[in-house]
Amino acid sequence: MSDNQIGIIGLAVMGANLARNFASRNIKTAVYNRTFQRTEELINNHGNEFLNGYEKIEDFVNSLAKPRKIILMVKAGAAIDQVIEELKPFLSEGDYVIDGGNSFYEDTEKRVKKCKEYGLNFIGMGISGGEEGALKGPSLMPGITKEDWPKFENILDQIAAKDFQGQACVTPLGYGGVGHYVKMVHNGIEYAIMQMIAEIYDYHRKVKGLDAGQIAEIFEKINQSENQSFLSEITVQVLRRKDIESGKFLVDLILDRASQKGTGGWTSIEAIKNGIPTTTIMEATMSRSLSFLKNERNNFSKIIGRTFNDDEASVDWNQIYRFGSSIAFIQGFELLKEASKEHNWDLDFVEVCRIWQGGCIIRTKMLIELQEMFKKGQKWVELIQNNLEEVKKFILSSTQNEIALPAFSAAYNYFLSMTDKDHPANLIQGLRDYFGAHTFERIDKEGIFHENWLNE
Ligand code: 6PG
Repeated sequence: MSDNQIGIIGLAVMGANLARNFASRNIKTAVYNRTFQRTEELINNHGNEFLNGYEKIEDFVNSLAKPRKIILMVKAGAAIDQVIEELKPFLSEGDYVIDGGNSFYEDTEKRVKKCKEYGLNFIGMGISGGEEGALKGPSLMPGITKEDWPKFENILDQIAAKDFQGQACVTPLGYGGVGHYVKMVHNGIEYAIMQMIAEIYDYHRKVKGLDAGQIAEIFEKINQSENQSFLSEITVQVLRRKDIESGKFLVDLILDRASQKGTGGWTSIEAIKNGIPTTTIMEATMSRSLSFLKNERNNFSKIIGRTFNDDEASVDWNQIYRFGSSIAFIQGFELLKEASKEHNWDLDFVEVCRIWQGGCIIRTKMLIELQEMFKKGQKWVELIQNNLEEVKKFILSSTQNEIALPAFSAAYNYFLSMTDKDHPANLIQGLRDYFGAHTFERIDKEGIFHENWLNE
């Protein structure tokens, strides 16, 4: 019988949990994995009338109701193309193949075109929330058009997380690579906020001499405020965790090298290509790279010693967190705005704020205010102008204590630059014109000018 409503290929944790999520809503789900053992394991542990496993890809495809909807939860990259080729002989015109991984949006656009030639619909869908989100309710960012949406609305609404109003955290974002683009920027913001959390932690352990458990209290307070977020909540958990063997705080035993799979870098490259200053995301990405220079850091630290003196600075951390996170979001939104214009996506930012309110890694109560900002056409500087004094205290104290604040400094400088009508770019133009005759514009007359600088 061809009555499975959805198919999932790739049963690593994310795929398996997503399949269980569908099945738990009484949505008949077919699963397939290259190695059948994984399928068997899932079915043995969780199989029921709504979760059906298949050994052959052909049987899996044939078990699906038309137009078929198949979500690929396989590693981004060549594996996606490989699965499309494997599926192709068994699919029918009008079927949907949905890539639920962190694929690069340009690859998604190529696959949309290629699948169109095969008579198939290819959809890139960002999924956020990690293992737990996949199982209990992720935030979904599908590149689905409004026309196609009725075919998906019912099933995706059921498995998605809920926003603060109780609506499903999913919306049809449009055609092509838009879903994966929005997810890429989501991850860029994720990088920036995580880096800022790490900077607050670093300041407290070095300048204030607090242990991880004491630093957790600061984030606990943030969690009780209107700036509560998933990332600050899990920071409390991570900071408080003790190593069973040694009884020490586990975070103190974790090697200080932060890995990355690429999405922060992609966001940064996109920002450079589009001329959008997403400086907090870039600094966060580069900080992860810098963290890997462990040997160099060790060697240089022997030459340049540090002593930390608590200058008794007392700072409202809630305001600091709010300022930094807001700038990370704003920079991400600025990039999305530009991309939306360039690709004619017509992104609805009220909706983007809404679908990030539940399930995803960057969910926070602050998204209510950001959503209001878009609704009312408010200026983002109004949201955080009152936090500036506190941020200054933090930057000052960190500077005096020689603590690096890459992401917070980027946020602070962004705020200062964006609220200053006079940028020193006039001098840069003068210099460019001096050595390269690159010309400049003037503020007192129209036109393009070149000065003969060598003429006294
Ligand atoms: C999510 C996460 C998820 C993944 C990141 C990690 O939204 O659920 O963003 O997609 O955890 O890709 O990325 P890095 O390994 O680059 O930190």
